[in-house]
Amino acid sequence: MIPAPRHFIDTQDVSREELLQILELTRLLKAADKDGACPKLLAGASLGMIFEEPSTRTRISFEVAMTKLGGHALYLKPGEIHLGERENIRDTAQVISRMVDAIEARTLKHATVLELAANATVPVINGLTDYNHPTQVVCDVFTMLEHREAGKPMEELRVTFIGDATNVCSSLMMICTQMGMRFTHAAPERYQAPEAWRRIARANAEASGGSLTITDDVATAVRDADFVYTDLWWWIGQEAEIPARRDAFMPAYQVTEALLARAPAHAKFMHCLPASRGVEVTDAVIDGPRSIVYDQSENRLHTEKALLVHLIHPRLKRPSPELAAHHRGLIENVL
Ligand code: CP
Repeated sequence: MIPAPRHFIDTQDVSREELLQILELTRLLKAADKDGACPKLLAGASLGMIFEEPSTRTRISFEVAMTKLGGHALYLKPGEIHLGERENIRDTAQVISRMVDAIEARTLKHATVLELAANATVPVINGLTDYNHPTQVVCDVFTMLEHREAGKPMEELRVTFIGDATNVCSSLMMICTQMGMRFTHAAPERYQAPEAWRRIARANAEASGGSLTITDDVATAVRDADFVYTDLWWWIGQEAEIPARRDAFMPAYQVTEALLARAPAHAKFMHCLPASRGVEVTDAVIDGPRSIVYDQSENRLHTEKALLVHLIHPRLKRPSPELAAHHRGLIENVL
């Protein structure tokens, strides 16, 4: 019996135990890949990848992950499929589900990915929306575990996110508090995480023993940080707000060597990328010895492999050799 599809729209859809399992799967798949021994766990499987916005890391990591696992990925660009234009989302979700084993979707609106998932009969994976970026933050936690101080338990890690309350900030706040970590968001009051997000993160922290701090005091926010993380201060569609945003964040919230010097000596710098160099972070920091941004990018590949295996592998049909031979015989009879 094929299990019902599990979607990955939000880390909140997944228990802490399941996230730990995905992180362990990532560790094993990364090690296997480094030995050139990535198992073909998704042989014959296909992933449909819908992108309403450009992507470097998400697109490449999902496509390469499918190839390494023995499967195949299709890049489905707006204008090249009918999503929401000449065909409604429900029909598109139903039709694509009949042909692929999972759908990855980066959509402008969170409601679109929710509608895809509500109507798909295969797993749907959120590749970033205007609300969150769950696949990015699984990668981020995995990267933190690799780069933490030796022996430091995950529950003692302190993560400080500086800057706008972006979709990455939203997901990072959720996963860190789910995993029992200490999460701080440092931003001017106007750009701090909204109350709706804080309610979810506070409930997570209460259940996990983690904590949530929201502050405009960036110096204090980095004082005990193991990881200092930032993201873009504005995104496509926010061009009119650039002067106001620049005034609000610059210079206090720019991650500079001087700001990083206020963090413990072992603290590492993280960024989901793409970065606006010289805006939210200086070249000296992003190219400096404390930056782990390229390890973070590479880990998108390994965490996508784990997520794909976790969601697709239990649903693959494994016919017995007798059943496979039976079908082959019938087909060959008509050739
Ligand atoms: N971090 C991230 O999602 O990068 P892309 O936009 O390049 O996919």
